[in-house]
Amino acid sequence: MSKTAVLEIEGKKYEFPLEVGSEKELAIDIKQLRGATNGVTTIDPGFKNTGSCKSAITFLDGEQGILRYRGYAIEDLAEKASFLEVSYLLIFGELPTKVQLDKFEQDIKDQSLVDEDVHKILDAFPKNAHPMGVLSSLTSALTAFNPKSVEYSSADDMYKAIVMLMGKFPVLVSWCMRKMKGLPLDFGDVDLGYEENFAMMMFKRPNKQYKASKVVLDALDKLLILHADHEQNCSTSTVRIVGSSHAGLFASISAGISALWGPLHGGANQAVIEMLEAIKNDGGDYEKYIAKAKDKNDPFRLMGFGHRVYKNFDPRAKIIKVAAEQVLNDLGIEDPVLDVAKGLSDVALNDEYFKSRNLYPNVDFYSGIIYRALGIPVEMFTVLFAMGRLPGWIAQWKEMRENKEPIGRPRQLYVGEPLRPYVSIENR
Ligand code: CMC
Repeated sequence: MSKTAVLEIEGKKYEFPLEVGSEKELAIDIKQLRGATNGVTTIDPGFKNTGSCKSAITFLDGEQGILRYRGYAIEDLAEKASFLEVSYLLIFGELPTKVQLDKFEQDIKDQSLVDEDVHKILDAFPKNAHPMGVLSSLTSALTAFNPKSVEYSSADDMYKAIVMLMGKFPVLVSWCMRKMKGLPLDFGDVDLGYEENFAMMMFKRPNKQYKASKVVLDALDKLLILHADHEQNCSTSTVRIVGSSHAGLFASISAGISALWGPLHGGANQAVIEMLEAIKNDGGDYEKYIAKAKDKNDPFRLMGFGHRVYKNFDPRAKIIKVAAEQVLNDLGIEDPVLDVAKGLSDVALNDEYFKSRNLYPNVDFYSGIIYRALGIPVEMFTVLFAMGRLPGWIAQWKEMRENKEPIGRPRQLYVGEPLRPYVSIENR
């Protein structure tokens, strides 16, 4: 028996189909709402109750702390898979065979050279420009350097655009950091593996050999995998909606980067370290800041605690906490800011205020700690998030195009002035 939802408006009943997702979630299909009701719309600021699409990519259950990519548990993927394997899985729907993965990696490498003129664009930015702005601009500029439009009905064309972006993006990410640090740009080494090459482009100094340690590679791999997709969040929805106008892949991803930049989204990892530094500079008394966070008259919040969707625990945080401890141990890092982080989380996790509100450290609390331990400047944290999110954005954009979704165009409830006569300027 098909399920329906009944809506009553001004005494008249309307029936709408109920859709059932693979995890038994229900959604009311209101596609016919305006037509059937003569123009009634819904209001849902922030789209908190609105499913903008059907998607087969990522499943998350905030109450139970579940995150899965294409049906695979994030815990399994973070422990056993590489970032490129996960990228392939997200974009093409299945884990690759060895042959498929090798081809994917080779095709990416073949497309990884960035035009020297992009370098000139980067030169024009001031050294202290925020790297998220720079990354968004350079990604958008890729369209100008690769103007052939993608024929979306051609699998070959799609594939070419995808490997091109997967190849060039790590180069742009590393350039953003090298520019900030005053280091000469590096075009990478295609004889290295994807993550190894990325680490080399990020960290190699011009006067010193560089070989990424296993600790660094493992930590980077985990961080990238944990950030790779998170269903219809702000930046992903941006990528889908920009792409729905049939703007190209690079332009759509560039818009996603701008959306990710904000402190309410990807910028939170930067806010965590800035908060920890402020506490350290104030004498390191984290108990004082726990009290401030609990004080309803104080706007201070513990950055890196709580989550809009995860109300039990953030499964990514569990994994990254272990990785952070490993990185700090293996690199033998002692940093007073990290002591503050540990003190804060130990106290908060045992405090009734935080326990009763289900406020646990989220992924951003620990990711910033690892980035800092690796020597990555705080402004680059969100750029690293973008690097991880790239395959998710690509997968979501590809799904949107393949499903032939209509252009994104929400409605509104107009609450402005009704029609009024124009008043000439001398009579106002
Ligand atoms: N510190 C202190 N109290 C908090 C915090 C916090 N970080 N977060 C929530 N609360 C309290 C809040 O004051 C409220 O208390 P009460 O019930 O007494 O009024 C209660 O917990 C519920 O808070 P809420 O604002 O209704 O929760 P929310 O789901 O709307 O907010 C949040 C989620 C992530 C915006 C919020 O927890 C927060 O501001 N956290 C700090 C910023 C942060 O770390 N953001 C990164 C999120 S992960 C990034 C990603 O996945 O994209």
